[in-house]
Amino acid sequence: MIRSFLRDDDLTPAEQAEVLALAAKLKAQPYDHKPLAGPRTVAMVFDKPTLRTQASFAAGIAELGGNPMLVDGALAGIGKRESVADVARVLGRQASQVVWRTYAQSDLEEMATMSGVPVINALTDEFHPCQLLADLLTVQEHKGGLAGLTVAFLGDAACNMGNSWALAGVTAGMHVRFGCPEGYAPDAGVLEQASALGAATGGSVAVTTDPAAAVEGVDVVVTDTWVSMGKEDEAAARREVFSPYAVTEDLVAQARPDAVVMHCLPAYRGSEIAAAVIDGPQSVVWDEAENRRHAQKAVMAWLQAHVGQPGKTG
Ligand code: NVA
Repeated sequence: MIRSFLRDDDLTPAEQAEVLALAAKLKAQPYDHKPLAGPRTVAMVFDKPTLRTQASFAAGIAELGGNPMLVDGALAGIGKRESVADVARVLGRQASQVVWRTYAQSDLEEMATMSGVPVINALTDEFHPCQLLADLLTVQEHKGGLAGLTVAFLGDAACNMGNSWALAGVTAGMHVRFGCPEGYAPDAGVLEQASALGAATGGSVAVTTDPAAAVEGVDVVVTDTWVSMGKEDEAAARREVFSPYAVTEDLVAQARPDAVVMHCLPAYRGSEIAAAVIDGPQSVVWDEAENRRHAQKAVMAWLQAHVGQPGKTG
């Protein structure tokens, strides 16, 4: 069975730990591991804006010995000019893996079903699992481990990053607290799945509308833009509803003194995060941005190694 990485819980807790360990190894020795030698081509398809994802995948694929092939989503017109299934069959004949940033998770799933090669989620409306591997790698580097740590996610938790933190954080055995307005919690089904995962890993999820309660004593403070890609029409209303959840110096002061602050970027200083926080001593956002490359290299190497091997167990 071909393995893909479409959502955070596609990796079991043991597999997630294995991929993170590989990411740390690849970070230490970036040019020694060439599982895409040939070079094998990895197709990168973007239907939404990108900076970090395109840059880190392109650099990472090259470091693995492969050939990054950029497919412009606007030109390809996937789902409009031709069906997802037909595009999948074509890309699967040219590329060893497909990396896709798009809107609907169901389209990504169809790409994985029809392409015959591993498919990697480079962000959908529902999940952003590559970002989460980079985030977990960053926390691991700064805190020495993951299990048992508490993270507060502030602001718009009803987005890809909120859902992914719930699944990936609990998979790693972390306690994930969401501080968000009524109606902006992660997807209810995802929260249930995360809670169920916690029975095995010791992790947990909790949701509160009180931002101070969310950050009280936490090890990690996370936020994301209040206006995700595709939500631009709601920008004014969102600024109003999320303003009490801004990550300010006062709010961060309620976390542990050694807490780290993360943001997947792009960041809007003065909205979801204060300039003094993102540019301050507790911010690890540039490590987080760099770690996209190392984490994604680990995913690609891991998926390539599992082509033709039995499916997920345990
Ligand atoms: N929630 C954000 C993440 C950006 C990396 C968005 O979807 O735009």
